[in-house]
Amino acid sequence: MSADQLIASLEQLGREFQHVIRPLADEQAIRAAQAQFLGKKGKVSEVMKELGRLPPADRPLVGAAVNRVKADIEEQVARRLRELADAAARADLARAVDVTLPARPVGGGHLHLLTQVRLEAVQIFSELGFVVAEGPQIETDWHTFEALGTPKDHPARDMQDTFYVSDEIVLRSHTSPVQIRTMQTQAPPIRIVAPGHVFRRDDDATHSPMFTQLEGLAVDEGISFTDLKGVLIHFVSRFFARDLTVRFRPSYFPFVEPGAEVDMQCSFCMGAPQGLPRAEDARPRSAAGERDRSPSGAGGACRLCKGTGWLEIGGAGMVDPVVFAAVNIDSERYTGFAFGMGLERMAMLRNGVDNIKFYYEGDIRFLEQF
Ligand code: PHE
Repeated sequence: MSADQLIASLEQLGREFQHVIRPLADEQAIRAAQAQFLGKKGKVSEVMKELGRLPPADRPLVGAAVNRVKADIEEQVARRLRELADAAARADLARAVDVTLPARPVGGGHLHLLTQVRLEAVQIFSELGFVVAEGPQIETDWHTFEALGTPKDHPARDMQDTFYVSDEIVLRSHTSPVQIRTMQTQAPPIRIVAPGHVFRRDDDATHSPMFTQLEGLAVDEGISFTDLKGVLIHFVSRFFARDLTVRFRPSYFPFVEPGAEVDMQCSFCMGAPQGLPRAEDARPRSAAGERDRSPSGAGGACRLCKGTGWLEIGGAGMVDPVVFAAVNIDSERYTGFAFGMGLERMAMLRNGVDNIKFYYEGDIRFLEQF
């Protein structure tokens, strides 16, 4: 090949490269095309092999043409890469981003239903002069049972099958040990409420091995059962925001005398249409199934109270002198009342929660309803 022909084919390579590079849209492909032309075995190198066969006088001209075509290809590469970068930057800017738009609202959190209920209950009792007291969840057998009139061989221990850490240490099965701790450290007059977790070997739709109770204790000169009744009536009426009454069913707890199960008037049907139950319906909890099949509990009866007109909410009674003796309070001078209720149950009754497990599962669909 003559020098002119070589120069012509070099210039042709430059033009060919224009066509090759035009459709390429990413840097990797562009670099590969560049290597096809300028690499060691590239098209320009192939042409340069012919250089040696030219008469020496012609070589500088052809060499200059080689340099020109190399520079041209490199320039095309740089330009194409710049074009791509510019296009990317323009596309970026063209995206409609309004930085002045207010942020999407993040759903506000709120207190868990049980926390709300606990705070409300404490609020209501605090208006009556009760202050909050606390005790440990891992408690001594003595505070949990013995000081509360329940020695180790007492049959009433079966009512609260609990978790033993050791012979003398238990997970408290009720908040009543807070009564003992309070009376050990404070002299009457005493008015406390003690909300807190308790633990029992129980597990079904309405019982959980861990749940929350609220204990109440008032000790002073001249405290009577009517004070207990008045406080509880006030509480349920405030908590359910309607006038409700309570009734007491004689019952046994080793630390109160007399002792009672507390029922509140059904907040759903208010005891209607059957009207408030007659005395013979006031049977203890074990007879609940029997009551359900009674005429007043048959079809059309209130789902919440099963037509009985009453809802069981807890236990209560007058502090037994045996308890005062354990904490050195003079039972000739002082009397007191105590009560305990389950807060999960209060929220179930008021907010229509029908499985106790919902409280603890953390399912957002449940939590956000309250
Ligand atoms: N501690 C009892 C229980 O958990 C409830 C109770 C408290 C009863 C205070 C009487 C007085 O079953």
